[in-house]
Amino acid sequence: MIKGIKGVKDILPEDSARWRFIENAARRWGDCYGFREIRIPIFELTTLFARSIGATTDIVEKEMYTFPDRDGTSLTLRPEGTAGTVRAFIEHNRGADPIPQKYFYLGPMFRHERPQAGRLRQFHQFGVEYFGTQDPRADVEVISLLWRFLSDLALPALTLEINSLGSSSDRAAYLPVLVAFLKKKAGQLCENCRRRIDTNPLRVLDCKVPECRMATEDAPQLVAHLSPEAKDHFDRVLTGLTALGIPHHLNPRLVRGLDYYCFTAFEITSSHLGAQNAVGAGGRYDGLVEVLGGSPTPAIGFATGLERISLMLPDQRLPDAGPSVYVAAFGAEGSRAGVILLDELRRAGVPAQSDYRSTTLKAHLRQADRSHCLYAILLGDDEIQRGSAPVRNMLTKEQQDIALPDLPHYFHQLQAPS
Ligand code: HAM
Repeated sequence: MIKGIKGVKDILPEDSARWRFIENAARRWGDCYGFREIRIPIFELTTLFARSIGATTDIVEKEMYTFPDRDGTSLTLRPEGTAGTVRAFIEHNRGADPIPQKYFYLGPMFRHERPQAGRLRQFHQFGVEYFGTQDPRADVEVISLLWRFLSDLALPALTLEINSLGSSSDRAAYLPVLVAFLKKKAGQLCENCRRRIDTNPLRVLDCKVPECRMATEDAPQLVAHLSPEAKDHFDRVLTGLTALGIPHHLNPRLVRGLDYYCFTAFEITSSHLGAQNAVGAGGRYDGLVEVLGGSPTPAIGFATGLERISLMLPDQRLPDAGPSVYVAAFGAEGSRAGVILLDELRRAGVPAQSDYRSTTLKAHLRQADRSHCLYAILLGDDEIQRGSAPVRNMLTKEQQDIALPDLPHYFHQLQAPS
């Protein structure tokens, strides 16, 4: 037997209702905030990700699925959606259209991480990208969209953490101070962090190893090194969130694992998830469009992991599926009429099914139960003669006779409004 790949999961029919519910909610919330869906490719040139996410990030250093095309060009399965969206924004000259431009996407991403609960090698994101303004109200809009979406799904114990990474010159001024501090603490840091002192010192601040956390407890904070403009921007974001009643906590250690961020960075976690507790995260990336060859265009976005949402989505939040109908057709006349009735029900938008192997009423009712149909129409030769058939409620076992021509309309009325 050939098995699926480690960390790459099938979504079986039993789970599809959850997924469709989450995806529909994502599209609805995206539309509601004026974002429009973009569908970007699953694979791109490797350099796109290396240049945008950053050559010394974990993603680029060790997590990308990279392979040579037949002509040797290096390609990579997208590990996230921001780089591809920015590439499309530049390539289609969207900056020439009225700004701001707001996009959202849904789809699979690929990272070669160690699989565990909530961490997969193929996972799915809902993400948004808002191009064209540095206005802190855009930051508030993007963060509130993520917060409202996750809250609408009734996900438990959500916490929004936020930080400002300042402008690139703020970071240039801060980094030597941080590096000097880290060098003094090098002996107490994990091997990975010792290496990061030279390659990506900011990441040392969000290392999860307890010794590293202790050693960096008194590390100088980036928020204390913000320029007056960056501080003002950040204050306005925080005030805006408060005005909308969105609870948030300042986390000076929040630095994010992708290099393109500046100013606002945020993450929503849930204590109901295990070690992989980030439900969604994002931030501002005002320099990225220019880095990838476009005109300077400030931007901000987030992405949220659908597997993690699915793990936490309470069953009660799922809408009841509309009642589906089983056509228990038996006897020569009944069987012939059953095929036509199935077609009529489906054309009326009523989910309807039957099992062609069952020939007796008893076998049909067993099958109706197994397929979780709420109703069964009992259609034998007698019913065809009478011109009406019993509709059986499979839960209560109550039966009601309905005229055959009225059946599609009768069930159509019972459908939950979509
Ligand atoms: P990220 O923090 O790398 O950001 O990923 C966002 C979310 O994707 C995470 O919070 C998590 O829920 C989910 N996620 C990430 N890796 C995995 C995995 N291996 N398995 C399951 N879920 C995962 C980004 O991707 C940025 N592009 C977000 C962004 C958009 N920033 C600006 N615009």
